[in-house]
Amino acid sequence: MKDLTPDPSTLDPIETASIDEIRALQLDRMRWSLAHAYENVPMYRQRFDAAGVHPDDLHALSDLAKFPFTTKSDLRDNYPFGLFAVPREKIVRLHASSGTTGKPTVVGYTQGDIDMWADMVARSMRASGTKTGDIAHIAYGYGLFTGGLGAHYGAERMGCSVVPVSGGMTERQVTLIEDFKPTTIMVTPSYMLNILEQYEKAGLDPRKSALEVGIFGAEPWTNAMRAEVEEAFDMHAVDIYGLSEILGPGVANECVETKDGLHIWEDHFYPEVIDPETGDVLPDGEMGELVFTTLTKEGLPMIRYRTRDLTRLLPGTARTMRRMEKITGRSDDMIILRGVNVFPTQVEEQVLATPDLAPYFQIELTRDGRMDAMRVHVEAVDGAAGEARRAALAASLRDKIKSVIGVSAEVVVGTPGTVERSQGKARRVVDNRPVE
Ligand code: DLL
Repeated sequence: MKDLTPDPSTLDPIETASIDEIRALQLDRMRWSLAHAYENVPMYRQRFDAAGVHPDDLHALSDLAKFPFTTKSDLRDNYPFGLFAVPREKIVRLHASSGTTGKPTVVGYTQGDIDMWADMVARSMRASGTKTGDIAHIAYGYGLFTGGLGAHYGAERMGCSVVPVSGGMTERQVTLIEDFKPTTIMVTPSYMLNILEQYEKAGLDPRKSALEVGIFGAEPWTNAMRAEVEEAFDMHAVDIYGLSEILGPGVANECVETKDGLHIWEDHFYPEVIDPETGDVLPDGEMGELVFTTLTKEGLPMIRYRTRDLTRLLPGTARTMRRMEKITGRSDDMIILRGVNVFPTQVEEQVLATPDLAPYFQIELTRDGRMDAMRVHVEAVDGAAGEARRAALAASLRDKIKSVIGVSAEVVVGTPGTVERSQGKARRVVDNRPVE
């Protein structure tokens, strides 16, 4: 793989500023953001007043802990525009998350927000090893989802030739990669596996593609998956994180030279990790729920927004700003089986550690008497699809899940093509437990 470490002179000065400078900037900006929310959003004013806090009470960054949390249901309760902090005419873009139940959550951006977003995605791409003048293939979905347009504006800001393919039509994705020769691809990791499969079907060698780096996010993925994709395409795979409520892609990104977790762009987003049960702020290094406060967002300031994503904060390495460890999963996706917590990423690691299993999987939750049960659907690769071999593979994965994760699961190894393929964010868990 090519060395893609960015030229330090191309970084934003704040990326290598001292911690003291960064903390001073954050304190200034946090004061502005709290006041902006309090003065312009009735919900924040009521909440702060009820909690007996005022933006003037913020003397140090740690004072943020006195302020109330914001959750997804606050967005739903104020659907569609109730949390906007500027007159609606100042909002130049709306995005919305599909939401599995009920109303979608709607987010709005001012022109200033769109500019900051483009800057953050461009910074993320630079950290990933993309250079000005590169061709960038964007296979995140365009539309109300923040992935496509968010990546698009950032790639333009970066000075790339942008190929706005969006998701789907996998055959055409491969044709365009072969013909246009992009060096950067931005896509969900699970959809990248689809593209890989299509390469194989077309009899093309993915290692010979022009791709040098994949910027993968929008869903949890493991270092085992990184190794799989890097080997298959002979390219770097780096992690990009974000969420609509805070921005979209570009809240945090890995640096290609270290690949040791995602640097949070702390000049715009202030992270905390809390104990999800008590709400207490945990010291850096401890695992918990990630919470963000936006520092510069105009349209939709978010104060202490609970992401439900589980991770821990780590000190900076390639950049001064703190890192978050690769996300283990969302608290919503955690499966509890006979008292043991299981995340789909743990299953992913074991699937990828089993030779002759294809990298696709889906977890089905069922009920066994009064107990919840887990069935893992995977498939054998071509050449290992005979019945006896598949039975042996099932036993092997079942043993790994038992010994490493500590739970008993049923494993179903199908023939190639039997597991649902992702078109964007993969559906890792299907809940078939009877409704009571
Ligand atoms: O998924 C924004 C995005 C688009 C990020 C493209 C990266 C690339 P939402 O649809 O609002 O926004 O979903 C946000 O997706 O809270 C996480 O649970 C999950 N997620 C996003 N990035 C990662 C990642 C976009 N790198 C939710 N690793 C978040 C793990 C991720 N989970």
